Amino acid sequence: MCGIVGYIGEKDAYPIILKGLKRLEYRGYDSAGVAIYNGNEIEVCKTQGKVSTLEEKAAREISRVGTFGIGHTRWATHGEPNDINSHPHVSNNGELVIIHNGIIENYGSLKTELKKRGYTFYSDTDTEVLVNLIEDVQKNEGVKLGKAVQIALNQVVGAYAIAVIDKKKPNEIVVAKLGSPLAIGIGENEYFIASDASPFIEYTNKSIYLEDGEMGIIRLGREVRLRKIIDDKPIVPYVQELQLNLEQIEKGGFDHFMIKEIYEQPEVIIDTYRGRLLAKEGIVRLGGLEDHIEKFLNAQRIIIVACGTSWHAGLVAEYIFEELSRIPVEVEYASEFRYRNPIITEKDVVIAISQSGETADTLAAIKLAKSKGALVFGVCNVVGSSISRESHAGSYTHAGPEIGVASTKAFTTQITVLTMIGLRLAQAKGTISKSEFMRCLSELEMIPEKVEIALKTEDKIKEIAAVFMNAKNFLYLGRGYNFPVALEGALKLKEISYIHAEGYPAAEMKHGPIALIDEQMPVVVIAVESEHYDKVVSNIQEIKARKGKIIAVVSEGDTTVGEMADYVMEVPKTPEVLTPLVTTIPLQLLAYHIAVMLGRNVDQPRNLAKSVTVE
Ligand code: AGP
Ligand code: GLU
Repeated sequence: MCGIVGYIGEKDAYPIILKGLKRLEYRGYDSAGVAIYNGNEIEVCKTQGKVSTLEEKAAREISRVGTFGIGHTRWATHGEPNDINSHPHVSNNGELVIIHNGIIENYGSLKTELKKRGYTFYSDTDTEVLVNLIEDVQKNEGVKLGKAVQIALNQVVGAYAIAVIDKKKPNEIVVAKLGSPLAIGIGENEYFIASDASPFIEYTNKSIYLEDGEMGIIRLGREVRLRKIIDDKPIVPYVQELQLNLEQIEKGGFDHFMIKEIYEQPEVIIDTYRGRLLAKEGIVRLGGLEDHIEKFLNAQRIIIVACGTSWHAGLVAEYIFEELSRIPVEVEYASEFRYRNPIITEKDVVIAISQSGETADTLAAIKLAKSKGALVFGVCNVVGSSISRESHAGSYTHAGPEIGVASTKAFTTQITVLTMIGLRLAQAKGTISKSEFMRCLSELEMIPEKVEIALKTEDKIKEIAAVFMNAKNFLYLGRGYNFPVALEGALKLKEISYIHAEGYPAAEMKHGPIALIDEQMPVVVIAVESEHYDKVVSNIQEIKARKGKIIAVVSEGDTTVGEMADYVMEVPKTPEVLTPLVTTIPLQLLAYHIAVMLGRNVDQPRNLAKSVTVE
């Protein structure tokens, strides 16, 4: 999610907050806003667009005077990017102002209850519900802001980093954290709050990082008071002296955004299924899908259009959808689909997969599909993006901003959404048994832990990268669900290390590519426990017989392939339908480390753009 900044002290707050928001621009965002206490009232200025747009608007609209305020950069999750949905949000009584990073899952039920109590809502966001809930608690319980926030948050389900201020108490900021980051900077008679230390590191290196379930009451002239949200018990603050520089802070201590985003995958997979997957209750519920489920169930086929990594996610979905729900699926490169005069009817459902939501070929493909009467369903990562707005319906991945050009967390969160769609369709069609359905749900819920385990093999993968960093060509092989993963692994290597790599179905080797095998050709083979395992073993033996070098992705504890391969990368066992979510991880790490060892510009590889908005 995006960025929050706050200041309370003796300096002018506005320039500090604005500069802080600019420091957080690397996190990607779609809107920005500030709230500054000018001595009499809290002035709010907010807008869709860049911080520079906010700066121009603030110069026209607010005094920007005052030593106390908060600011926000938004990465929309609920309510498309526009001025009214931007933060800060103000409570109905005009006294409380909030900024929020994260997702309030149960905002719908809270909003319904607050409407019954006479509250009015002006935005589509979940955040506006929270600030009015805090007002409602403050009014009914007759408590101060800190206590009202603590009581209100115990009614909330979701993830948040929030800062709340009260015009009745213009010397206090209340903050709270669960799932999204929040740091407090401790200065000389001044305090800062931010999503990370980059907005305040130039003023102080003394910082308190809140832990999940903690809240803080920050009042000028007094020590920071921390409490547990659950029971309001006091906590002794741990003040760190940061030794990080600005660049290190932006990358969360990682060397590149790409590796940071590879490590974010467990949490963003959770963010993506949060509120949509209730494994114990046997529920998968995607809002955009439920509204059109009959159309999907009666579709003569599902056509998936996408480009690059998103196209690979589409290929994974083809296997999942056909296996689980028996609905015919075809996957098309958007750039080909749009020009080949395809046969599309109103009986077709077209799914567009796009991280950026701005890929020109994919956008053109769905416009064509719409013109021929098909239902278009978007799976995007950017709320309010062109493709999401052009689609009739859709489900967002909640991967947060993906800064590295090479797509990593977008890919695994796309597969997470597509897997939930496949399971829901199978359940609705009755093509999956209850027990198998429940097993898949609980296994999907465990995927983040399995990704964590896969990430722990990084040092081993680094060693393998060092052995093969100077290879001129690679082959990547997989079968079934892992054939698309082989293609994705090859693309990752190509696009950041500039080494030629090709992905193939493992069985295709004897139809030509095996002629390429010699001692100079490393072959990455995905050989996890699966229906095709024995056949993949045979493919490995064919390659070994020709002196090819085998780097195998195997299930934990595998000894068969483990003894054959020259190198192995282990992943936790998981049902075959979910294996792409874990087998992708070592391939991302292998590509990353080879590229780093070759001194490549990993986050911005040559010739590439993060979003291909041209044809
Ligand atoms: C993948 O690592 C590349 N960044 C690229 O192939 C990308 O997946 C493709 O351009 C599609 O982008 P989109 O998902 O934003 O539509
Ligand atoms: N869920 C909130 C919204 O959509 C906050 C999003 C964010 O983290 O920026 O406005």
